[in-house]
Amino acid sequence: MGPMDLDTFASLVRARRTSLKVDPERPVPPELVERLCRLATWAPNHHRTWPWRFAALTGDARARLGALIGDYQEAAGDPPARAEKSRAKYLRAPLMLVVACSPDPQPRRAVEDRDAVAAGIQNLLLGATAAGLASYWGTGLVVDVPGVRELCGFAPTDVILAAIYVGWPLGEPPEAPPRPEPRLHHVP
Ligand SMILES: Cc1cc2nc3c(=O)[nH]c(=O)nc-3n(C[C@H](O)[C@H](O)[C@H](O)COP(=O)(O)O)c2cc1C
Repeated sequence: MGPMDLDTFASLVRARRTSLKVDPERPVPPELVERLCRLATWAPNHHRTWPWRFAALTGDARARLGALIGDYQEAAGDPPARAEKSRAKYLRAPLMLVVACSPDPQPRRAVEDRDAVAAGIQNLLLGATAAGLASYWGTGLVVDVPGVRELCGFAPTDVILAAIYVGWPLGEPPEAPPRPEPRLHHVP
């Protein structure tokens, strides 16, 4: 047997759920955040470019992230109510983990770097699930609003893949969306 049997691993994979039903007041310890980010770095990575970048936003930083989105929407002419909603949205979890890719200048490698970061995010989400945390991979405006990279301490050329809401669950997670059968061709 390997480090874990397949049934145990499969139940961990299936237990990961996109959920925002978390306690916004109960912090996620920084050591645990570091452990989860370390797990992400165990993803496969062509050319060992180590392209992942992480920012853990807690406390007021979550409001600053929301303000960047809200201000952007307001400047773009969105209804004020929508901008106001965005300003508060990241306060729904105690921790926002923003994950980015520092891509290789060569386009083919940059795609592979992004793949490696996405694989790392899944490691992180599974680790969070194993730790009893709820998580929610979000994208939307956060990936391209100017200023988010700077707030996160990322380089101007970094590409944001995810703003992950992380927190301790309140109640049961949502029901799992059923998965279709894998479209698998056995080609002998
Ligand atoms: C790149 C990416 C972006 C996502 N963005 C959102 C989002 O903005 N809002 C949302 O509700 N879910 C988002 N999700 C989560 C999916 O909705 C979710 O994974 C899907 O519904 C399956 O549910 P499950 O994760 O609980 O299995 C995103 C997932 C990925 C991979």
